[in-house]
Amino acid sequence: VTPLAWQGGPADGRLWMLDQRALPLAERWIPLDTADEVATAITDMVVRGAPAIGWAAAWGAFLEARRLGDQASAAALAPALARLRAARPTAVNLMWAIDRLQALAARSAPSELADRFFEEARAIGAMDRAANRAMGDAGAAEVEGDGLHVLTICNTGSLATSGWGTAAGVIRSLHAQGRLACAWACETRPWLQGARLTAWELQRDGVPVRLLTDGMVGHLMKTRRIAAVFVGADRIARNGDSANKIGTYQLAVLAHHHGVPFHVVAPTTTVDLATPHGDAIPIEERSPDEVTAVQGVQIAPEGTPAWHPAFDVTPAALIRSIVTEQGAARPAYEASLAAAVQAGVATHSAR
Ligand code: MRU
Repeated sequence: VTPLAWQGGPADGRLWMLDQRALPLAERWIPLDTADEVATAITDMVVRGAPAIGWAAAWGAFLEARRLGDQASAAALAPALARLRAARPTAVNLMWAIDRLQALAARSAPSELADRFFEEARAIGAMDRAANRAMGDAGAAEVEGDGLHVLTICNTGSLATSGWGTAAGVIRSLHAQGRLACAWACETRPWLQGARLTAWELQRDGVPVRLLTDGMVGHLMKTRRIAAVFVGADRIARNGDSANKIGTYQLAVLAHHHGVPFHVVAPTTTVDLATPHGDAIPIEERSPDEVTAVQGVQIAPEGTPAWHPAFDVTPAALIRSIVTEQGAARPAYEASLAAAVQAGVATHSAR
């Protein structure tokens, strides 16, 4: 499964997105024709997951470049790129993709700009696919033995990337190696990415998955042998503090208490060396209505005040390794992440 697909050529093609809000009950594909529509789709969670929203934004930028035609330039593109960049605040892959396109615009002639954006949007997808496979295998090497039970949260699979996923990619690698007994998937309140998306895509691929609500994790770790926790990330600060879906931090604290290794799995494009530590990561706050209602059905008394931070930050001290496509980075993260990012940049610009 893929979160989005380009159908047709650069001149007449259309961007299609799988509406992740409707899954798993309906597989609805939505056509998008403008950068503005893409930005709205990102904000509204039609597409979500850090690498996928960066990739989607690249296609949005191409749509604007195509619309501008011979008038396309860095200056003419600026409003649409700013709108895409602001679609969600936490996942730095979005800013990474827009930075690349901005730099590409600055060095392209107007007549060739749209074609170059088209190639770049395709290349961003291809880079992510390659990174996913490398992360999957590197993450699987972090655990020993077989018959493994591992725990994850949110959706970090094919729907969140352009390939087989980050943390879910590790789960797929373990399964492919015949070492996975069960992937425990947290439901992930309030958007239910675990229940709706991870359970759906792993089951489709025949990977053994078992769902639990977020509040059951402590009891799970106390009563069963969990080999490791693998989670994705939306932004990793220079010191290794990692922002991911709300609820991740409590998994790390519980894992620490129970002696379960906790691993973050993300491409180097999720590492933000400009952000020194987790307190400096912007945390998206979404509407409290998404907490007081589940899929549009009100569950709390009308007018109940609620809080909805969409992400939390796990301190580096609780993270056993940060697995990127360059391998497993270990503490002290300042040095190991800087080296991984440098190697990643070399690979990305060498294409
Ligand atoms: O709000 P979402 O669904 O976009 O949040 C997604 C996550 O938190 C993922 O864990 C993260 O983006 C990594 S996806 C490979």
